[in-house]
Amino acid sequence: MSQSQINLYYKNVMADVIGAEHGITKKQLDEQLEKLPEKLQEMRSNPELKMKEEAYRKLPHDTETAKQIKDLVAELKSRCENLVVLGIGGSALGNIALQTALKPYMHNIDDKSRIGPRLFVFDNIDPNQLGSFLDWVDDKLDKTIFNVISKLGQTAETISQFMIIRQLLLRKFGLEGYKDRIIVTTDVKEGTLRTISKEENLHCLEIPQCVGGRFSVLSAVGLFSAAMCGVDIDSLLKGARDMDARVSCEDFNKNPAAINAAINYHYYNHGKKISVMMPYSYALKDLADWYRQLWAESLGKAEDREGNEVHIGPTPVKALGTTDQHSQVQLYREGPNDKLFTFLQVSNFDRDLKIGPAPDCAPELEFLAGKDLSTLLNSEKKATEYALLQNKDPGSTEQPYLTKHPCLTVLFDEVNAYTVGQFIYLFEVTTSFVAALFGINPYDQPAVELGKKATFALMGRPGYGKLAQQIKSLTKIDGDFLV
Ligand code: PA5
Repeated sequence: MSQSQINLYYKNVMADVIGAEHGITKKQLDEQLEKLPEKLQEMRSNPELKMKEEAYRKLPHDTETAKQIKDLVAELKSRCENLVVLGIGGSALGNIALQTALKPYMHNIDDKSRIGPRLFVFDNIDPNQLGSFLDWVDDKLDKTIFNVISKLGQTAETISQFMIIRQLLLRKFGLEGYKDRIIVTTDVKEGTLRTISKEENLHCLEIPQCVGGRFSVLSAVGLFSAAMCGVDIDSLLKGARDMDARVSCEDFNKNPAAINAAINYHYYNHGKKISVMMPYSYALKDLADWYRQLWAESLGKAEDREGNEVHIGPTPVKALGTTDQHSQVQLYREGPNDKLFTFLQVSNFDRDLKIGPAPDCAPELEFLAGKDLSTLLNSEKKATEYALLQNKDPGSTEQPYLTKHPCLTVLFDEVNAYTVGQFIYLFEVTTSFVAALFGINPYDQPAVELGKKATFALMGRPGYGKLAQQIKSLTKIDGDFLV
């Protein structure tokens, strides 16, 4: 098993590098780190929050579930050429992220390099999208398996997709054929999907109680589709377990989650309310999407744990290097200095490409010829970081008119299941630590739940009539304001 690591590099947020106005001093960092144990204790003195933290922190140690999943994969593999995940939010983003990070780019298209089924994750209900997929898959349904994932089993998007697929499979294959092609992943005890799977005798994988959607990627939620597609889930969990040891270190100066949380918390309170995550690796791009949900739903809260109105929450932004250098970096450097940047940088790529020779008519391109593409990619990361760390252009003698921006980097020795497991766990625990510093509950999502209820109301669910009226009067299109 590879022992490659991820590490958090934080020199370029320090006041010594970027100045006192936008940097954090060692003293300020120490103050936050000193505060953290007490804040964590306060959070953990609430039994419900303690249980929720413990529940997701147990997942990397649950090797029994991983074994059950591998047995199921062995059973299903020969009759599955397409695996379709139906889920949304925490029931989809981890699956997408693991796939992009750990499978070859052409996985779904190139049958030769494909290990396991093609994977499709539907985390939206656009009828054009799903309809077009169903047209494509129609003559391949025999060897297609649907993994319906919903913690509470009532989310309108996932359940509607399930009801479409259920009808399709029942019509085409009858009851037994339908059951053979559905794997449900839902709460271990309760919820509508649990009831359906019991009633219809569907194969059911369990989401442990108290593990919330966005903290569930290392449960059956993320592990099943990953294992079906050949991801080494043992290494993924081992990475998370090894990170668990690092983020449990009581010396917070050596604890990457504590340092990460302290820096993020400090900057939120010092005018940087936007957190940009910018991977310089295509494989890591959807982990930034996964992080975006984790950060936003966990940390965006109206009230603290005592019920005081606080309206807290850093806004997570996803950018991709180098693509977004040509889209966002102009704003990042010259716009408001209100962001903390977290770059993801990879030292060793699985493979590399050499840039070809320069055409004779373009000797000015000679400097690129023969260089590795990974060298160009990592040079561009450094170039962007430099642009953000510098307040004047090279050689300029004018007074600086720009300011310096704080930049963190998560360094991956390489991208593999072991390092991705470390990354996932580091950011989950960082999220809990930041929430402790803010004094908020990171495990609920009342605004999301309100949206779910409003959807029930608009779709005519009994008992929601009054809410439906309120929504309709508020959202009715008023022609006077249409231009
Ligand atoms: O993190 C969360 O709890 C949410 O984003 C949920 O994952 C999302 O709303 C889907 O919920 P469910 O899995 O119950 O369908």
